[in-house]
Amino acid sequence: MKKNNLIILKIGGSVITDKEHNRKRINKKNLKRIAKEIAQAKNKNGFSLIIVHGAGTFGHKIAKKFNLHQGYKNNLQIKAISDLCLDLKKLNIEVIKYLKKEGIEAITFKQSSAWQLSNGRLENYNLEIIRNYLSLNLTPVLFGDILVDKKLKFSILSGDQIIYRLAKKLTVNKVIVGTDIDGIFNCNPKTNKRAKLIKKVNGKNINNFLIENSTSIDVTRGMNGKVCELINLAKSGTESEIINITKSNILKKALLGQNGLGTIIKTN
Ligand code: IPE
Repeated sequence: MKKNNLIILKIGGSVITDKEHNRKRINKKNLKRIAKEIAQAKNKNGFSLIIVHGAGTFGHKIAKKFNLHQGYKNNLQIKAISDLCLDLKKLNIEVIKYLKKEGIEAITFKQSSAWQLSNGRLENYNLEIIRNYLSLNLTPVLFGDILVDKKLKFSILSGDQIIYRLAKKLTVNKVIVGTDIDGIFNCNPKTNKRAKLIKKVNGKNINNFLIENSTSIDVTRGMNGKVCELINLAKSGTESEIINITKSNILKKALLGQNGLGTIIKTN
């Protein structure tokens, strides 16, 4: 692996599952196109890549129904944990299959077998295996998951927290967060036609944005959590960009080095 040639990509669960009908189905059209765009960009520029995908309809519904993100409450949750793990595995296998069809040698890194949480935050997470995969030119694929939690017994690890942790510890060239909206808006673009895309979140507007607009920008369930992880990442020196990967070629352009396609999150 060339130094500083690593891109970390989050593929939002809402993009690759059937969010529109809230069904536990793969959005094959998006997944196929995304895998193609990744392969085309990778063949052209030969970067190393870590992919982290979200859970979408394969995870949020059951996690919410049984409050799995809040840790142990009752024994009904135990079956739900096992069911959730199976669904996440099925989704992950589909992602890997589509990537491999395009010639990307993708390999699952099963974070719940290697890492632990403490109060919902990752603790003692080792990246040695991921580093080794990268050195073999494999593309590690991680995903939002349910993990053992030292304080809560179990809890949910979001793909966005994974992105933050990986980018903080590895030497990263670019962090791309693919979602189903164009970036961060000053208010909800789905209910307000005059919503304006914020092209840059930086040291000057971070605070307004988090405190004053924190509810209005929460257009997807995960947007606030996502932004918090990315702001923390920016504070530790790595900028990222939220882009809309439901639109053709945006991801490919971002992977090939184009910036300014969505919202850039940086501190200056
Ligand atoms: C959610 O992960 C994980 C579970 C609900 C098990 P993410 O928060 O990264 O998923 P998306 O991208 O919002 O679907």
